[in-house]
Amino acid sequence: MRTRPLKVALLGCGVVGSEVARIMTTHADDLAARIGAPVELAGVAVRRPSKVREGIDPALVTTDATALVKRGDIDVVVEVIGGIEPARSLITAAFEHGASVVSANKALLAQDGAALHAVAEQQGKDLYYEAAVAGAIPLIRPLRESLAGDKVNRVLGIVNGTTNFILDKMDSTGAGYQEALDEATALGYAEADPTADVEGFDAAAKAAILAGIAFHTRVRLDDVYREGMTEVTASDFASARNMGCTIKLLAICERAEDGGSVTARVHPAMIPLSHPLASVRGAYNAVFVESDASGQLMFYGPGAGGAPTASAVLGDLVAVCRNRLNSTTGPGESAYAALPVSGMGQVVTRYHISLDVADKPGVLAQVATVFAEHGVSIDTVRQQGKDGEASLVVVTHRASDAALTGTVEALRKLDTVRGVASIMRVEGE
Ligand SMILES: NC(=O)c1ccc[n+]([C@@H]2O[C@H](COP(=O)([O-])OP(=O)(O)OC[C@H]3O[C@@H](n4cnc5c(N)ncnc54)[C@H](OP(=O)(O)O)[C@@H]3O)[C@@H](O)[C@H]2O)c1
Repeated sequence: MRTRPLKVALLGCGVVGSEVARIMTTHADDLAARIGAPVELAGVAVRRPSKVREGIDPALVTTDATALVKRGDIDVVVEVIGGIEPARSLITAAFEHGASVVSANKALLAQDGAALHAVAEQQGKDLYYEAAVAGAIPLIRPLRESLAGDKVNRVLGIVNGTTNFILDKMDSTGAGYQEALDEATALGYAEADPTADVEGFDAAAKAAILAGIAFHTRVRLDDVYREGMTEVTASDFASARNMGCTIKLLAICERAEDGGSVTARVHPAMIPLSHPLASVRGAYNAVFVESDASGQLMFYGPGAGGAPTASAVLGDLVAVCRNRLNSTTGPGESAYAALPVSGMGQVVTRYHISLDVADKPGVLAQVATVFAEHGVSIDTVRQQGKDGEASLVVVTHRASDAALTGTVEALRKLDTVRGVASIMRVEGE
C-alpha cells in the first residue's frame, strides 16, 4: 500500500458534508485498504467558520473555498455545497488545478453537466455524482456501467422523498395536501420553503440526469416537463382507489416506441396498487428500470439524509481515488446517441379525467363524441348524478398528450360541461 496519502478537499460541511467527514475519519483504515492508499482530509470550506463542527480539526476549516481548490496538491474535491454558484466555478477550478471531483449537486449537474464533463475530460480528470440522484441508492453507476451493454427503454421512479411522504400520508390517512405538508415539515421531511420538492424542480433535475445517462443523450433541465403535486386532492385519491390505484409523483424517462426520440417528465400520476412503486412508503425512493435484455429492475432505498447520501459520496471517492492511483479515469459523459428530446405532446399514456357536467340526457354522448373526434379512445366511463349536476369520470386508452389536450380544450367549450375537475395520467400498466 502507498503510504503517501491522497488529499481530499471538502467543500461544504452541512447535512451531507459533516457525514462525509465523519465516515472518512471513522473508516479511515478500511478506506485506505480498499483504495490502496490513505485518504487525508486536507481542508474543509464552509460559510460560517466559527460554527462548532464535531470531529473536524478547526485548523482545516476555511471560508476561502477558491484558494483551497487551487492549492495544487489536492487529489479529489468533494463538492457538497449545493446550488449553481459558487459550486460551478469551484468545480471548474478544481479540474484546472489538477483535482478530480465528486459532487452531490443535482441542480448543477442537470443544468451544466455537459460543460463540466467537457472540462473534466480536457483535464483528464474524473467527475462522479452518484449522490446527486436518490441519495444512497446505487443508480448512476448501474445505469452507466452495469447496463452499458443493454438498451434502456424506460426509467420510472419516485426520486423525491418529501413528496412521497406527503402523498403517502394523504393516501393512508385521507389528509388534505396542506395537512400532510405540515406534518412533513414538523417531522423534518420538508424544508421551510418546500417549493423545490412539491413543485417537482428537484425531481426534474434528477430526471434530466437519469435520462441523459440512460439514453446516452444530453438532456437538460429545460427539456424536462414538470408539474408539481400541490393540486392533488383527497378526492383524487378516492378516484385512484376506485381504479385500484394510488398516486405518486413520478419521474419518467422514456424512449419513444419507434426508438427515434426520448422524453423526460415529472408529474403526479395514478399507478396500480399491484405495481412495485405503489408500495414505496414514507420518504423512501425507488426507481424502476426497463431494458431490452435485463427486463425490469427495481432500485429501492433511502433517497436522502446525511449518512445515506454520504455513503454514495464515499463510494465515488473510493472509485476516484483508485482511478487516481492507477493514473486512469472512469467513464465520462456518454452522449453519442444524441437522440432528439421530444416535448410533452409526444408522450403517450392513459388518462383519468373528472368532469362536472349537467345531469341531462345526451351529455354522455356529446362528451364521447369529443373524445372520438380527437382520436382518444375511452376505456371506461362512470357517471354520478346529484341535483341537476353530475360528475363524469372518463378513463382513456393510451393516447398522445397532444390529443388529450385538444380533447380537453374542446370539452371546456361544451355548454353541458361545467368544468374539468381533474386530469391525471395513469402510468405503470
Ligand atoms: N441533504 C440531503 O439529504 C441531500 C441528499 C442528496 C443530495 N444532496 C445534495 O448535497 C449537497 C449539500 O446538501 P446539504 O443538505 O448537505 O446542504 P447544507 O446542509 O445546507 O450544507 C451546505 C454546506 O455548504 C457550506 N457553504 C454554503 N455556501 C458556501 C460557500 N459559498 N463557500 C463554502 N461553503 C459554503 C455551508 O457552510 P455552513 O455550514 O457554514 O453554513 C454548509 O456547510 C446539495 O447539492 C444537495 O442537493 C443533499
